[in-house]
Amino acid sequence: MNEKKKGIILAGGTGSRLYPLTKITNKHLLPVYNKPMIFYPLGTLKSMGINDICIVSGGEHIDDFVRLLGSGLEFEVKLTYKIQDGSKGIAHALLQAEEFVKNDEKIAVILGDNIFEKVEAPLNIFSDDNAYIYLKEIENPERFGVAKLSNEGNVIEILEKPKNPPSKFAVTGLYIYPSDVFNFIKTLKPSQRGELEITDVNNWYIKQGRLKAVFIEGFWSDAGTFNSLLESTLFASKRQNK
Ligand code: DAU
Repeated sequence: MNEKKKGIILAGGTGSRLYPLTKITNKHLLPVYNKPMIFYPLGTLKSMGINDICIVSGGEHIDDFVRLLGSGLEFEVKLTYKIQDGSKGIAHALLQAEEFVKNDEKIAVILGDNIFEKVEAPLNIFSDDNAYIYLKEIENPERFGVAKLSNEGNVIEILEKPKNPPSKFAVTGLYIYPSDVFNFIKTLKPSQRGELEITDVNNWYIKQGRLKAVFIEGFWSDAGTFNSLLESTLFASKRQNK
């Protein structure tokens, strides 16, 4: 497989947990300290050496992203935009970027509300045939995907928002996939909450023995609730002013 790197930022959804902030604006355009939220995942992809990036969002907001980011010239990236009709889940949003990716390419997928201090990209991550997830140890992982680990530290299952988490390792919103991810998403059925779930995608790679985990250090948060938006803002202000 050729080592070609492309990135996808998923910036759709309703942002209902931040209502009424998201009544007229897309969540990923809200401020996190001194920048719109989407600048942070964009920066994370750039830090991984990715500069060919597709942004997926709902039709009602896509023109706002175009006005904000344009061709990407100012950010030294090349941007492509795709529309997700409705809010049908993370895997559904990813499927909208299928045309952006060629057969032999691997992709980094990042959720538009995920703020990382730093991420490492292990050797071969963009050239082998495996999928990768990034795990972060946190105190209360219940509101995230949570990894069940074997004694050797391999991921054996991911549970989405479990009441009794099997570990403290939350699945963050950064994933590396081979291009066969799209054909698998097409076979998915909506979950109980009516969405195509990224956790079902990751569990499929586990079943095939093709999912690897990277454990991250440093700050990580989503910015999708009032408290996590505040935490992310405080982190960003400290980093900016240190
Ligand atoms: O932040 C990490 C967590 O993100 C993971 O631990 C979970 O496994 C994963 O399911 C996801 O959980 P959330 O329930 O917090 O995801 P949420 O619905 O908030 O969506 C996160 C981002 O995904 C959102 O900022 C934009 C994108 N998205 C989401 C949906 C539902 C879309 O682009 N389209 C969508 O339809």
